[in-house]
This record gives sequence, C-alpha cells and structure tokens, in this order.
Amino acid sequence: MKLRPPSFLASTLALAVLAVAAGGAIAQQAPKPEVLIKSRQSAFQLVAFNSGRIKSNLEGTYNKDEVIKASNTIAAIANSGLGALFAPGSETGKGWHDTSAKPELFKDLKKFAELGGSFSKEATELSKVAAGGDVAAIKEQYAKLSRTCKACHDDFKSKD
Ligand code: HEC
Repeated sequence: MKLRPPSFLASTLALAVLAVAAGGAIAQQAPKPEVLIKSRQSAFQLVAFNSGRIKSNLEGTYNKDEVIKASNTIAAIANSGLGALFAPGSETGKGWHDTSAKPELFKDLKKFAELGGSFSKEATELSKVAAGGDVAAIKEQYAKLSRTCKACHDDFKSKD
C-alpha cells in the first residue's frame, strides 16, 4: 500500500466508502447530518476495532500480517479526510446514537484539524513501522498513536 502524506481534511473518501459499506446511497452534496454523524461514528468504531487488534497482538501472540492490516486500515481512515464528516449542520443530532462531539469542536476547527493532523501523521508512521516487523518499535509507535486519540477526545469528545 502506498501511503500519501497526511490529509485529514482533504478528501471525502471515507464518507463515500462508509456510505457504500452501510448500503446507503451516496449523497454527493450536503449529506444529511444523520449520514455525517453515522459515518464518523462508524469510522471511529473501525479505528477502535483495529487499534484493539494491534493491542492484542502486542500483548499476546504477535502476527505480523494482522498488525500490518490493522495499521493500514487505521492509516487509510486517518488520511481519508475525516474532517469532512464534521461539516456545518452536524453539530448536534443522531447517527447510530446522539453525537458525542463537543460543541467546542465546531468553534475551533483549526485545533481540531491540528489534532487530526497528528493522528494522520502517527497512523502513517505506524503503518511504516508495522511493515518492518520490529515489535519494540511498533509498541512505541502504537503508544504515540494512542496519545493522539486521547488528546482529541479530551478536548472534543464528551464521555459516553
Ligand atoms: C481529531 C480528533 C479525534 C481523534 C484523533 C480520534 N478521535 Fe475518536 N472521536 C472523535 C470525535 C469528535 C468523536 C465523536 C463522534 C460523534 O459521535 O459524532 C469520536 C468518537 C470515537 C468513538 C466512538 C464512536 C461511536 O460509536 O460513537 C471511538 C470508539 C473512538 N472515537 C476511538 C478513537 C481511537 C481509538 C482513536 C485513535 C486511534 C481516535 N478515536 C482518534 C475525535 C477523535
């Protein structure tokens, strides 16, 4: 897989991919808030699932291919332009459940984009390190990636 430079806000690929995956029609323009919120919640669920896969490989039996697949999936989502899923109009509302994005997020999109940029950067780096198969280096990079989740959640995600 060829990795592009981080571009958190640049593309709406994730939206298209997730809309297809969810079996829904792809709204080309101004997707409904419900679609945006569902898509971002799905994206983060998939990120969390793959993050858990990496964690269990690092704590249990390490399988290089599993870790590569999981890391590439997270990097693809992180670099897919997730920012587009936080379009105006989606500040409140229900996706799979009520959005847990804090109102502050929509007031400080610059900070949100910066935190998203770190997420993209560390996820891209994890993909590279995973391909190398050095478990100690993967652990270290995985910890760096996990810190980007927490940094953004602390500021912009309310507790469930
Ligand atoms: C740049 C900010 C940002 C980063 C980085 C980030 N998240 Fe999130 N995450 C959010 C926001 C905002 C929501 C709330 C989405 C909503 O409900 O509309 C969320 C929601 C979630 C959810 C709940 C999804 C649901 O079903 O509602 C999980 C799980 C999650 N994130 C895991 C992670 C993990 C794991 C990472 C890192 C590998 C991560 N996130 C990185 C901002 C971020």
